[in-house]
Amino acid sequence: MARKKITVVGAGNVGAHTALWVATKELGDVVLLDIVEGVPQGKALDLMEASPVECFDSNVRGTNDYKDTAGSDVVIVTAGIPRKPGMSRSDLINTNVGILKTVVENVAKYSPDAHLLIVTNPLDVMVYAAWKFSGFAPNKVMGLSGALDGSRMRSFIAMELGVSMQDVHAMVIGGHADEMVPLTRYATVSGIPVTQLIAPERLSSIMERTKKAGGEIVALLKTGSAYYAPSAAVAEMCEAIIKDKKRVIPCAAYCSGQYGVDGIFIGVPVVVGSGGAERIIEIELDSAEKSAFMGSVGAVKGLITDLNLDK
Ligand code: APR
Repeated sequence: MARKKITVVGAGNVGAHTALWVATKELGDVVLLDIVEGVPQGKALDLMEASPVECFDSNVRGTNDYKDTAGSDVVIVTAGIPRKPGMSRSDLINTNVGILKTVVENVAKYSPDAHLLIVTNPLDVMVYAAWKFSGFAPNKVMGLSGALDGSRMRSFIAMELGVSMQDVHAMVIGGHADEMVPLTRYATVSGIPVTQLIAPERLSSIMERTKKAGGEIVALLKTGSAYYAPSAAVAEMCEAIIKDKKRVIPCAAYCSGQYGVDGIFIGVPVVVGSGGAERIIEIELDSAEKSAFMGSVGAVKGLITDLNLDK
């Protein structure tokens, strides 16, 4: 069986670490592309030189030329500027939408059948823009949100309880912004609802920490934003597609009426497999969860309207 081909656009912090996870999981051969000459080539070579130690046979190649990305099965877009302290994700919008347009048009030209996984922020609006710029079917375009936010929430719950990360599950829906909606009612430890294990006030502080988790890292790093967890989470989405795992992963997917949302991408639980976003699962939300989710939808819609991509 021929190896799959995975392109990672942007060889910065998130992109390089994504290439590392994808290669070590042997999901396929990896092409790392960046606008800066030498950087993707250098990082790819460095990764190849780690492969004998880590025992992976994925080929990792760096390039500045989209021709080398031709025929990719999955393209992960991390190109763009990250946040600095004091910035919200939406402050990045004008710069990153320009970068995304060039990237996605080139990707669509050379890999018309690829799945697009968007990491660049502000996430939900970038996924919408990527869908527009690519002309791809909506199921072939997804964005990294709940896979990362849920992983952050899981880590906070596991640390609170002193239990294995492996046994904690948590779901975060809505936009990948401070208005995201961590669903504590659906968080479990080996099937036990966390509401039975953690007092309400501690749970709400975990919820708040989850919403601001990206900003917590930005404030600590001072020069950029998080990359270990984002790259690990997008590699998990890539794995679900490549191995047709049918994983249930909350991510930014195109809604066509589900949850009362139509025509935009927003974080919802999705069955992810070789068909991309194969199916959105509609879970029951109580009135507080629903109104938080709709608030998040409103914020994403506002950003999309401001961008005026439909003109
Ligand atoms: N084409 C290809 N690569 C580009 C382009 C472009 N047009 N413009 C910028 N890049 C590259 C930069 O050269 C840099 O190597 O994107 C990379 C971004 O890397 P970092 O600055 O390290 O940023 P990173 O932390 O990886 O974040 C990238 O992911 O999580 C989001 O909010 C984050 O939007 C940001 C993105």
